[in-house]
Amino acid sequence: PNNRTTLIAGNWKMNNDREAAKALAAELVEALPEVPAGVEVLVCPPTIDLCCVAHKLEGSAIALGAQNCYWEASGAYTGETSVPMLKSAGCTYCIIGHSERRDYFHESDEDQNKKAKALVAGGIVPVFCCGEPLEVREAGTYVEHVVAQVKAGLEGLELASADQLVVAYEPIWAIGTGMTATADDAQEVCHAVREALVELFGAEMADGIRVLYGGSAKPGNIAELVAKPDVDGALVGGASLKAADFSEMVVKA
Ligand code: G3P
Repeated sequence: PNNRTTLIAGNWKMNNDREAAKALAAELVEALPEVPAGVEVLVCPPTIDLCCVAHKLEGSAIALGAQNCYWEASGAYTGETSVPMLKSAGCTYCIIGHSERRDYFHESDEDQNKKAKALVAGGIVPVFCCGEPLEVREAGTYVEHVVAQVKAGLEGLELASADQLVVAYEPIWAIGTGMTATADDAQEVCHAVREALVELFGAEMADGIRVLYGGSAKPGNIAELVAKPDVDGALVGGASLKAADFSEMVVKA
């Protein structure tokens, strides 16, 4: 219930092989011949399947995003994928700072800052993830934790318009656990994220930036989540791997 376009984004993580990725993309295109007004749909397959999924999505209403990037444009960075490469593969979005990357691959706030700047400069929208672990939630300092991540990850980023950035609040204890934050929990932190965005980018810009919730979002809870004033959609893991569930979420959003 605001003037921002709701974004339902699927993070496929490290799932599916080539044939399964193509099949899932094709099923989604079939299930969503058009997207409801006021809703935008995004899927983020593994890097190796970006091109074949791009091919399946051609002419559809579904956007393509990557799950990670490197900030240098080219050079001797074995195993990495640059922003211009993602752009030429057809990506318009790229997830950065997912807790799995921060935890398992030791990525820092500074890394996210470099990625965010490279993406915006290269014309790809970062989907900047933030979120607290269970200990921090239990200690009660989760708002400070998330706000610090947002400020460190996005400081100095220059935006020409609010659609150049998306933030996703994903409490780590709710990711893949079936334990969704309540809609009120999501609203509380998404609102705090927006206040941090006001400090970073000014009130007018912050009012247009989408803030998503992620963590066991599914067909049964999406409507309640997006009904909250500061929750502008969802970053969906598990439920994005089933075309029926993901398309149901789009319709209910
Ligand atoms: O990025 C999406 C995510 O981490 C949430 O995963 O499986 O809890 O929806 P899931």
